[in-house]
Amino acid sequence: MRTQVVDHPLVTHKLTTLRDESTDSPTFRALTEELVALLAYEATRDVRVAPVQVQTPVAVADGVRLAAPKPLVVPILRAGLGMLDGFMRLLPTAEVGFLGMVRNEDTLEASTYAERLPEDLSGRQCYVLDPMLATGGTLAAAIRFLTNRGADHITAICLLAAPEGCERLAADLEGLDVPVTVVTAAMDEKLNEKGYIVPGLGDAGDRLYG
Ligand code: PRP
Repeated sequence: MRTQVVDHPLVTHKLTTLRDESTDSPTFRALTEELVALLAYEATRDVRVAPVQVQTPVAVADGVRLAAPKPLVVPILRAGLGMLDGFMRLLPTAEVGFLGMVRNEDTLEASTYAERLPEDLSGRQCYVLDPMLATGGTLAAAIRFLTNRGADHITAICLLAAPEGCERLAADLEGLDVPVTVVTAAMDEKLNEKGYIVPGLGDAGDRLYG
């Protein structure tokens, strides 16, 4: 598993406002979209493309188009939904699938409560959207779900990650024969006893939709 922290002043600027507890929900939602578009730019660096030629008004030019099959983007409900529009700004032709997962706040175990994904993901590149990588349980389960259906390339985009969650995710995915990359705006300090990222930004789902 590879982890990439996007080091860019605009990313940090937007993330700082998201962290601020005085930022209201409408602003939080708008900034999340903007931040995800920046993260998606980095996260799609290895999106699969095929060479094409086009006729310009002057001559023939070499270029690329997105390769088939289309990439699949999977927001993890509920909070990941707030990241979808920002991602689709960059890759408007991506197919969208949904995975509903919730973390039990006592045991911190993740479980799946909804799923709307193609049955066969063989050879598909998948982009998973989830704002928080805390204990890593949700993302580990989501990635297993996708690779069990045949996805062969996974990139997760998270607003924030905790070192403990990244370690657990790497351990859970050991032996998986699929490249996995986590792209995040920041690697925070730690998890607290409730499994919240510190300093974090609070509960992303509540701040987006609560
Ligand atoms: C939050 C967050 C992640 C998950 C991260 O979702 O959006 O999906 O917890 O935690 P983990 O890394 O410890 O598994 P939550 O369960 O609060 O659901 P919500 O998106 O519906 O608010």
